[in-house]
Amino acid sequence: MRFDVLTIFPEIINAYISVSIMKRAIDRGLVDVHVHNIRDYTTDKHRQVDDYPYGGGSGMVFKAEPIFRAVESIEADGIKRLKLLTSPGGRVFTQDVAREYAKSHRAILIICGRYEGVDERVKSIIDEEISIGDYVLTGGELASLVIIDAVSRLIPGVLGDEASTEEESFSDGLLEYPQYTRPREFRGMRVPEVLLSGNHQMVRRWRRKEALRRTLKQRPDLIEKIELTEEDRRLIKEIKEEEQWM
Ligand code: ADE
Repeated sequence: MRFDVLTIFPEIINAYISVSIMKRAIDRGLVDVHVHNIRDYTTDKHRQVDDYPYGGGSGMVFKAEPIFRAVESIEADGIKRLKLLTSPGGRVFTQDVAREYAKSHRAILIICGRYEGVDERVKSIIDEEISIGDYVLTGGELASLVIIDAVSRLIPGVLGDEASTEEESFSDGLLEYPQYTRPREFRGMRVPEVLLSGNHQMVRRWRRKEALRRTLKQRPDLIEKIELTEEDRRLIKEIKEEEQWM
């Protein structure tokens, strides 16, 4: 997967992608991130990327021209890209959207907006406005990193362990079951006996049940969206008998 990021703060993007799993993915050639400074596409002496809003009001607005010039220059290579603009008013980015991007595109261009606004005409050259949630950030850099990270880890080979994106929260619609590592007892808190039993069938059932319990407790809205198996229904019945809060 190739990403092109247009930003006035390339150092934010570069800092994140130069460590940990993103760095490894890039070193292995599985992910390619090109960071472009919008300021490099200005033509005036002051390299101005924003200006006062027509009609008045507070804040500055990103100028259309440097962004158009940057996109045109990047696209001169002929690579077909999904073009995104980060914006709190866009479609909300979810795991399903991450999967859709990872599956259907080989290159994604992300324009990091800013909270005061971007000249409306920029929208004529993008495919989609995308939001990472219902809150307002000062700029789109964190949003673009969220998208790059969530999409990259779905690229085969990036995580190393292929199974791990299948098992985790949201991929089957449930939250993750509780995990433990050594020691068996820590400050009086013991690892559930079943996990030490070596009985894989029991472990599987316990994990499913705890994933259901956690989801019922913390995100009951998610349960409505998934298809429950017969076993799930039995487990939910058990949980309801065990729990006071339900
Ligand atoms: N820019 C400001 N807030 C944002 C958000 N929630 N998502 C994407 N871009 C943003």
